Amino acid sequence: MLQHPKSKMVGWNSLFYPIVAFASCLVFIYFSFGDFSINYNTPRPELDFVRVVGSQFVVEGRPFYVNGWNSYWLMDQVARDRGTGKVRAMMRAGSKMGLTVCRTWAFNDGGYYALQTSPGRFDERIFQALDQVIAEANQQGIRLLLCLVNNLQAYGGKSQYVQWAMEEGVGLSSSNDSFFYDPSIRRYFKSYVKTILTRKNTVTGVEYRDDPTIFGWELINEPRCMTDSSGDTLHDWIEEMATFMKSIDKNHLLTVGLEGFYGPTSPKRLTVNPQPELGEWAALLGSDFIRNSKLSTIDFASAHIYPDHWLKGNIQFEDKLEYTSLWMQSHIEDGDKELKKPVMFTEFGYSNLNKDYEPSQRDRFFKVVFDVIYGSAKKNGSGAGTFLWQLLVAGMEDYNDDFGMVPWERPSMYRIITEHSCRLASLGGSAHMKGDIKDLCLHRRIC
Ligand SMILES: *[C@@H]1O[C@H](CO)[C@@H](O)[C@H](O)[C@H]1NC(C)=O
Ligand SMILES: *[C@@H]1O[C@H](CO)[C@@H](O)[C@H](O)[C@H]1NC(C)=O
Repeated sequence: MLQHPKSKMVGWNSLFYPIVAFASCLVFIYFSFGDFSINYNTPRPELDFVRVVGSQFVVEGRPFYVNGWNSYWLMDQVARDRGTGKVRAMMRAGSKMGLTVCRTWAFNDGGYYALQTSPGRFDERIFQALDQVIAEANQQGIRLLLCLVNNLQAYGGKSQYVQWAMEEGVGLSSSNDSFFYDPSIRRYFKSYVKTILTRKNTVTGVEYRDDPTIFGWELINEPRCMTDSSGDTLHDWIEEMATFMKSIDKNHLLTVGLEGFYGPTSPKRLTVNPQPELGEWAALLGSDFIRNSKLSTIDFASAHIYPDHWLKGNIQFEDKLEYTSLWMQSHIEDGDKELKKPVMFTEFGYSNLNKDYEPSQRDRFFKVVFDVIYGSAKKNGSGAGTFLWQLLVAGMEDYNDDFGMVPWERPSMYRIITEHSCRLASLGGSAHMKGDIKDLCLHRRIC
């Protein structure tokens, strides 16, 4: 049974004081972002590696649930600005909201400000920008989920690798899916992975593979391999790359980066894919959530949530909410029963391009997503966290899309996010809260 979330009626009086408090909060955030002095010689917060025990994440012996966010732009921004101001502002703002993990791109293949300029060749200045991103996150006690390549074209992606192979005369095929099966391209990618994992951070002196600031690695953003809908090609690639990564880095958690569609090996689950009555497109993309996530080298499962991209036709808002809940419950049940590992929703977003869009819809969508996770977490279930897509700081229109937000510009959204941070943190015991989480949740400072 799926329930619609109950919308709360709130009177003006109960809104007034939070708004006043919020206004002073904005002033506070504004001024605290002015403080850009940073001294890397001061002791940094001690972070432990995140581990998996059963179907939960554990840090310092306690369950760890993630209220996380996406800011894909961090490395690119530091490279273009030649400074870390915006990244630091984002990390500080995230920390003040009780957010604990940020997912971001640790790749930029070919093109402007590329990290990898051609196979196995790196721009040291861009690498230093990534070093700085990691150092900034560490300074604020934020962990990073780092993604290693894009299935899509943005920032290079698999088509850039295929183009490189053709240019070097070693490519087997111009099909972009040859990224997954061409042995030369597999070698390119492995060499890239090895360079990243063994990179010694020029700011902190710590090799990436030894740095607990890194929550974990994600192999590829939203992989699809439509030329082999059996799923064998992509599965084989994931297996080989995951084994390779684990041979170099045994400290960090690893996930795939799937959208989460059910594939041919899970016939009973196909009804959960978007609108199966309109055809089985989602099962034919070459990805296969349960099969791919079940590999022993994959530490936690990941899926995305985009009801307004996935559901075609004139779909009512309430139906999108209901689908979101069904989709999440189904994947969490997979984590509990079939995979026996944590499940994270590493992207979820609500588009402002819908023709009936109102900001309050996005608030309610977020609330539904958060409520499902909290419901699972309370029962020690496998629903381990979410990463909203996507956060920006002011003045970053170039990086925005129809999902981007500067969250403190909308008090109701800010409250929904911070309340979720606090209820998740309280599951680990309020006695163990520290830093910004303690200020936020125990001292009721909303910033
Ligand atoms: C590969 O992807 C690129 C970028 O999306 C596209 O321009 C190109 O046509 C694709 N190649 C093939 C063979 O489909
Ligand atoms: C969840 O796990 C904690 C600690 O392991 C335990 O104290 C608690 O009773 C469990 N809760 C449920 C609902 O099983």
